[in-house]
Amino acid sequence: MKVVILKNEMSHSEDRWVKACQNRSIEFSVIDLSRHDWLEQIRLANPDLLLTRPSGLTAPFKLMYDERLEILVKELNIPCFPTLEEVKIYENKRYFSYWLNANNLPHSETLVFYFEKEAMAYAGKQVHFPLVAKTNIGASGSGVVILENKNQLTEYIQNTFHGTGSEKRVGPNLKKGKILQRGFKLLLNPKRIILKYNTYKARAFDSQTDFVLFQEYIPHDFEWRVVRIGDSFFAHKKLLLGKMTSGSLKKEYSNPPLKLLDFVKELTDKFNFKSQAVDLFESSDGNYLINEMQCIFGQSDTFQMKVDGVIGKYIMNENSWEFLPGDFNSNESFNLRLDAALDYFHSINK
Ligand SMILES: Nc1ncnc2c1ncn2[C@@H]1O[C@H](COP(=O)(O)OP(=O)(O)O)[C@@H](O)[C@H]1O
Ligand SMILES: [Mg+2]
Repeated sequence: MKVVILKNEMSHSEDRWVKACQNRSIEFSVIDLSRHDWLEQIRLANPDLLLTRPSGLTAPFKLMYDERLEILVKELNIPCFPTLEEVKIYENKRYFSYWLNANNLPHSETLVFYFEKEAMAYAGKQVHFPLVAKTNIGASGSGVVILENKNQLTEYIQNTFHGTGSEKRVGPNLKKGKILQRGFKLLLNPKRIILKYNTYKARAFDSQTDFVLFQEYIPHDFEWRVVRIGDSFFAHKKLLLGKMTSGSLKKEYSNPPLKLLDFVKELTDKFNFKSQAVDLFESSDGNYLINEMQCIFGQSDTFQMKVDGVIGKYIMNENSWEFLPGDFNSNESFNLRLDAALDYFHSINK
């Protein structure tokens, strides 16, 4: 079985997959999907399975990764994990909102405008404030703005269509906890400083001027993060810092409601998604609203779930949820993700 890791334009983007393959003694090669000879390289390697690592930093590279992957999957019929659909909804809030809507999945109402005139006409109506504006890409809340009134809304629209682009934070997120610790880690690691600087620079130059996305504001104190990798489930709360939970790094580990796990299992089963972090709001009437779904995601702790002080995961065993203690998230969960990728490969080759 020939495995190819499809790295993106960022240096070291292949590292976690590489480590996972080495840990399992699986042979692999790495191909950079951002290079001109990507297709030639794939033909030479003739892989049975692609391990994807989609771009999520700038719009042009995100589009590049999606397009080239689609050619490999649809024209050359090479399977990939996470799957093409998981990659397409990743870091694309516009496409993701269409996808949620088309599939009748619960989410906060979202509107996308490509014409300034149309957006301004909307702003002239009885808009309910606060209103959430989001850029397509931009992790850790960097592209999310809460608009409080009509003036802010029209200014946002004008800035996007003929100004500086939609408002975005490009530097470090100072809301994040553990600032001192993080700074200290960076000082000890100059390579990471350069990487971070390049990340900020890329984000700064990638301004969005072609459309605006607005979303109904959902009051919340926390977001649920439920992770599914293969048939393992994890859940914890991301707590609000200021107005946003994203990027706050403040977590609460407790026993999740089982109906939350049911919800995410049903959702991911439906699309055969086996590498997902699903972020959800809980509405005032106790229903779940899907905010984000990410097939590759960072991990600020070495674990994803802790119940009564015990690290572990949930699995579905004969129609009931069972908690299994243990460390399942090593190597930022890529070890578990590789197992899931191999299971996926075998399931489609039966
Ligand atoms: N519709 C919404 N209503 C209220 N707050 C929101 C809404 N969407 C996002 N937020 C807040 O903004 C944060 C960042 O938004 P999110 O869509 O998760 O973007 P990202 O994590 O990619 O930056 C969320 O964690 C949440 O706290
Ligand atoms: Mg988020």
